[in-house]
Amino acid sequence: MPTRRETLLGGGALAASTLLTGTSGCAQTNGFTTLLPVPPLIDARSQGGAIRLVAQEGRHEFMAGRPAATLGYSGPILGPTLRMRRGEEVRFEIENRMDATTTVHWHGLLIPSDRDGAPHDPIAPGETWRKVLPIAQAETTAWYHPHPHRDTARQVYFGLAGLVLIEDGTGAQLGLPRTYGVDDLPLILQDRLFDATGDLIYPDGPMTVMQGARGNTITANGAVAPVARVPAGLVRLRLLNGSNARNLDLRFADGRTFHVIASDGGYLATSVAMTRILIAPSERFEILVDFSDGRAAHLETGPDPVAPMMGMMMGGMGRAQSPAAPIMKFAPDDRRPSMTTAVPPTLVDMPPLPPIDPLGRRRFVLNDMGMMMGGMMGGGRAGAALGINGQAFDMDRIDAEIALGSSEVWDIETGAMAHPFHVHGVHFSVISLDGAPPPVHLQGWKDTVLVARSAEILIHFTQVAPRAHPFMFHCHILEHEDAGMMGQYVCG
Ligand code: C2O
Ligand code: CU
Ligand code: CU
Repeated sequence: MPTRRETLLGGGALAASTLLTGTSGCAQTNGFTTLLPVPPLIDARSQGGAIRLVAQEGRHEFMAGRPAATLGYSGPILGPTLRMRRGEEVRFEIENRMDATTTVHWHGLLIPSDRDGAPHDPIAPGETWRKVLPIAQAETTAWYHPHPHRDTARQVYFGLAGLVLIEDGTGAQLGLPRTYGVDDLPLILQDRLFDATGDLIYPDGPMTVMQGARGNTITANGAVAPVARVPAGLVRLRLLNGSNARNLDLRFADGRTFHVIASDGGYLATSVAMTRILIAPSERFEILVDFSDGRAAHLETGPDPVAPMMGMMMGGMGRAQSPAAPIMKFAPDDRRPSMTTAVPPTLVDMPPLPPIDPLGRRRFVLNDMGMMMGGMMGGGRAGAALGINGQAFDMDRIDAEIALGSSEVWDIETGAMAHPFHVHGVHFSVISLDGAPPPVHLQGWKDTVLVARSAEILIHFTQVAPRAHPFMFHCHILEHEDAGMMGQYVCG
C-alpha cells in the first residue's frame, strides 16, 4: 500500500503524464473474459446476529497478472455483502489492521447517530469498533464505506466499500429475482485510473479537489470488463455508483429497455421502464433486465453529462476524464432456468407527502468552483473555499439543530457544477429539481440526490443525534467532502 505521501508525489506525476499523452478511453475492454466477481454474502442471521469485518491492506489484480496495492474489508478489495433483516439487532465488530485511522459509515441505514460511523467515531490502527445495528427499515440496498476526517476519498478509492441488503420479505412477496449471485447480482461500479503495471493511481492535486478524482476505466465489483453468466430470463441488478466523483449514464449497447424497481431507500411505487439511467456517486438503483432473448448484452456508460468544465475554465488544462466506456458483458445461458419472467407493474404503497407549507425550511448553498476560482486567483489554496453556506466543515461546529420527529424542506443550491447531496440518518423525498418535479424513478425514498442547480427535498427526521455524535450532510464527491463541503446536524 503506498503511503499517502507516495500517492501524492508519484500518483500526481503519473496522472499528469497520463493526461498529457492523452491515453483516455478504457484501458482494457476488448476482453470480457474475466468472470464478474461477486462479493461473498454474509447473512447476519446465520452468524448468530454478529458480523465481523477487518479493514486491511491487500493486493488485487484488476487486470490479470498485474496486481495493485489495494484496501478491502476481510479481503484484498471491497467487502462482503451483508444481509440483515428488519427486526434484527446486528452486533458488528470492525477491526482496523491498516496503518491509517478509519471509520465505517452505514450509508442508507436508519440507525441512531452513535453507530453511524461518521468522523466522530474513529477506529485507530489496531483498534476494534463494536456496536449494534437495530434494523428497522424497509427492504433496500444500502452500503458501507469509510468516513474518516479528511481521508475518505483515498480510502474508498483504494477499495473500501461493501453492500448491505436489508430484507423484510417484500421482494419475495413480489416474486422478484432473489438468488444472490445468480439472478440477483450486486454491481459496485467505480471509475479508476491505472498505471502501466496495473497499480491504481490516485489523481491527487488541486484539480482533483475541484472536479473530484476521475478515472478512465470503469470497474465492476473490482474487475475491468468482466462477463457475467446469467439465466436467460429476468435478472435483478443492484447498482451502486461507488465512484468518488463520476456520474454514470448507464445503458445497454443494444438499447434494450430495463425496469427500475428501487432507489436508495427501497422499492418505488411502480416499476419504471427506461433505456438509460444516470447514477450519481453513492446512489443505488435496482433494475430488472430481461435476458430471455438469449443474446449477449453489453452494459456501458456515456460520458459524464454533468462533468465540470474545468478544461475550458483552466485554459485547456486538466479536462475531466469521463469518456463513454464499456463496463461489462452479460452472457445469458439458456440451460439455466429463468426463475422469474414477469416484471411486477406495482410494487409498494408510497405514503402521500405531508403538506409542505407548514414545515420548517432551510437553505444550503454548496460553494464550489465559483468561489474556488476566486480563491485561486486571489492566491488562496485550491479547495480552501469548498464549503456549505460559506463555511468549510468543522467537526466542532453544529450547523443545524432539528427536532426529533419533525419534517423539513431543505433547499439545496449549487454554484458552478452539479453535486450529489447526501444526508445521513434519513430517507427523503425529492420535491423538485431545478424547479421541476422529479422524474418518476426519483420519486421514491432517497438519501442522495444529484443537484444540478437547485433541489428541494422533504426530510422526516426519525433518528436521535446528540451533540457528541452529530449526523453529517455533504456532497458525495468524496474530494469535496474531504475538502469541507460537509455540515452536521443534531436531532433530539
Ligand atoms: Cu456515503 Cu457521509 O456518506
Ligand atoms: Cu451516508
Ligand atoms: Cu460536490
